[in-house]
Amino acid sequence: MYARIAGTGSYLPKKILTNADLEKMVDTTDEWIKSRSGIEQRHIAVPGETTTDLAVPAARAAMAAAGVGPADIDLICVGTTTPDLIFPNVGTLLQQRLGIHGCAAFSLEAACSGFIYALSVAEKFVRLGESKCALVVGAETLSRMVDWTDRSTCVLFGDGAGAVILKPSVEPGIISTHLHADGKYKDLLYFPEGISTGFNLAGQGKAFLRMKGNEVYKVAVTTLGRVVLETLAANGIDKSQIDWLVPHQANIRIIEAIAKRLEMPMERVIVTLATHGNTSAASIPLALDAGIRDGRIKPGQQLLLAAFGGGLTWGSALVRL
Ligand code: ACO
Repeated sequence: MYARIAGTGSYLPKKILTNADLEKMVDTTDEWIKSRSGIEQRHIAVPGETTTDLAVPAARAAMAAAGVGPADIDLICVGTTTPDLIFPNVGTLLQQRLGIHGCAAFSLEAACSGFIYALSVAEKFVRLGESKCALVVGAETLSRMVDWTDRSTCVLFGDGAGAVILKPSVEPGIISTHLHADGKYKDLLYFPEGISTGFNLAGQGKAFLRMKGNEVYKVAVTTLGRVVLETLAANGIDKSQIDWLVPHQANIRIIEAIAKRLEMPMERVIVTLATHGNTSAASIPLALDAGIRDGRIKPGQQLLLAAFGGGLTWGSALVRL
């Protein structure tokens, strides 16, 4: 038994922040941002618009695409690092908004790898027969964590949500997932406050995401390169058997390096970076939904999803659509 993706959906907040807008906020240029990262604009949640607000339309679109209703969903698993509240978790907030009652609903936190981690967990519930219809979401409002006066980070991130519905199938499906983490890299990318380190409302707005961009870049290329080769080897398949690479959208140069390792032309890589920026856990399901809805990704094709993020965490999924 496999878990198969039966439908996808995504949502981006309406507000767009272009590189030209950023030129007015920090000492940067459109040319620098485009050439160093590949990003031209990003969508930003307006004040009061939460991660769950973005997840709801993404989930509804995935449910519509799969032809399932609220009564069918029996598991909700959300990857997010930017929950509306510490608790209840985004899974249960989403459950309430979708009019679903009683099923297990939770969030997990693996930064930009959050969706791959959530997919890996949910597909096991489906494969073991414990879920017949799972809603898996990657949703983030990372813009809330960013110092908008720090040009080295604020130009990179955006907000959004993507979702998939998983159903049991005798045909693959999610063929394999591969999850990794190494906490020795924790200082490369992190948010310096949390509940048990003394976060309180008085401190809100003073702590921001911190990143050693250059070092993250190097580790990302190495770990992503390794995990895509691990995925191919685990399934005994060749690079040429991958129809589409759907990578985490952090930096076009990282994506190009991974495509090169797979000997894939960029025409077979789904890239949404220019218009979405880095939406963390939302970036892969957003890219997947974009590729499916514009007709590039077709039923029966083989996809390689690969992500890395703070932790550091990284992972992949080999998927037959
Ligand atoms: N505009 C203009 N100049 C800038 C900007 C900016 N927005 N940001 C930095 N610079 C300057 C720096 O100050 C530096 O100047 P200096 O040489 O005078 O000191 C110069 O540009 C070069 O800076 P670098 O950091 O070396 O630039 P680099 O080519 O490495 O690109 C970048 C930076 C885009 C951040 C790159 O390192 C990167 O993408 N790293 C990976 C980051 C990443 O993927 N993060 C997300 C991880 S996923 C997650 O979990 C959230």
